[in-house]
Amino acid sequence: MSLFPLNQGAGPSGFGYRSTAEAVTLGLDLSGKTYLVTGCSTGLGRETLRVLTLRGACVIALARTIENARKVCAQVAGDTVPLACELSDPGSINRVIDQIRSRDYRLDGIIANAGIMALPKLQQKFDLELQFLTNHVGHFMLVTGLIDQLTDHGRVVMLSSVAHKRTYHDGIQFNNLSGKKMYVPWHAYGQSKLCNLLFARHLSTRLPGSGQTANAVHPGVIATRLTRHMNPLLRVSARVVSPLCLKNVAQGAATQCYVATHPAVAGMTGRYFVDSNEAIPSRFGQDDALASILWARTEDIVSQFD
Ligand SMILES: NC(=O)c1ccc[n+]([C@@H]2O[C@H](COP(=O)([O-])OP(=O)(O)OC[C@H]3O[C@@H](n4cnc5c(N)ncnc54)[C@H](OP(=O)(O)O)[C@@H]3O)[C@@H](O)[C@H]2O)c1
Repeated sequence: MSLFPLNQGAGPSGFGYRSTAEAVTLGLDLSGKTYLVTGCSTGLGRETLRVLTLRGACVIALARTIENARKVCAQVAGDTVPLACELSDPGSINRVIDQIRSRDYRLDGIIANAGIMALPKLQQKFDLELQFLTNHVGHFMLVTGLIDQLTDHGRVVMLSSVAHKRTYHDGIQFNNLSGKKMYVPWHAYGQSKLCNLLFARHLSTRLPGSGQTANAVHPGVIATRLTRHMNPLLRVSARVVSPLCLKNVAQGAATQCYVATHPAVAGMTGRYFVDSNEAIPSRFGQDDALASILWARTEDIVSQFD
């Protein structure tokens, strides 16, 4: 129960802040459908895996290691395919793309859920700041590498965040993707989440199938292991206040499950959702020119991994 009454009502979709992933998928028969979910080992990804399989779907469950993927799949009763994918490692991403393509899985949805947040000190790989690399570039590679596997009505759902509004003052620091010139942990996270949003927005204009869609979501604020890099005192405080004013994991996984599966969302594309309802992103989050520049720059980065 949230103490904030404004957070309690349902929006035009009939769902709202308090709706759970089970509630937004109630009555849906997803048997015969296949979804790929990244970051299944814990948090919102694990709940998404649980609920999609509960509704009859097969879930290709990605975790950083095959052991973690198998472990989480063993915890659900439904149909799962555990695979390893380390999103900061292009080799690992290419391997999982090959595995999925060679087995010719047809994907009704890709939920790009994995993420890291607010690393206190600058961390880099391939001369890129690690949140930009993991949250954005890794998912860019994975999703674009699997576009041919999407069904005619396949849906791509990118986990963005309200934190996309809290980025650097110029939105995306194209001249500082390594983070060397300046590094502010929350701004770097916000930048990566803005990238997730703009990726969905631009992808929606490039999908080959007219029924295919790409959208971004903010799941709410939920005390998951995403806070692992935060100050321990803040982490404890978040857990203490969590039952009073944050979403629980079941509620946090709702928006991505809704956008990935609900019939009411069919054909909606290039949008941003919060609490299972359409919402308005920041000024940068609506900037199609910025989205094009980001796409071109990311293609360039990815081409250098080859
Ligand atoms: N929780 C919130 O309040 C909140 C708010 C807004 C947006 N979001 C977004 O929601 C998504 C899910 O967050 P969550 O709260 O469920 O976080 P979480 O509990 O920390 O789960 C994140 C998942 O991502 C995986 N992951 C991290 N780094 C990875 C990498 N390099 N390669 C592959 N997988 C990796 C983690 O695997 P390991 O466990 O093996 O590290 C874990 O499975 C994130 O994209 C986050 O930005 C969350």
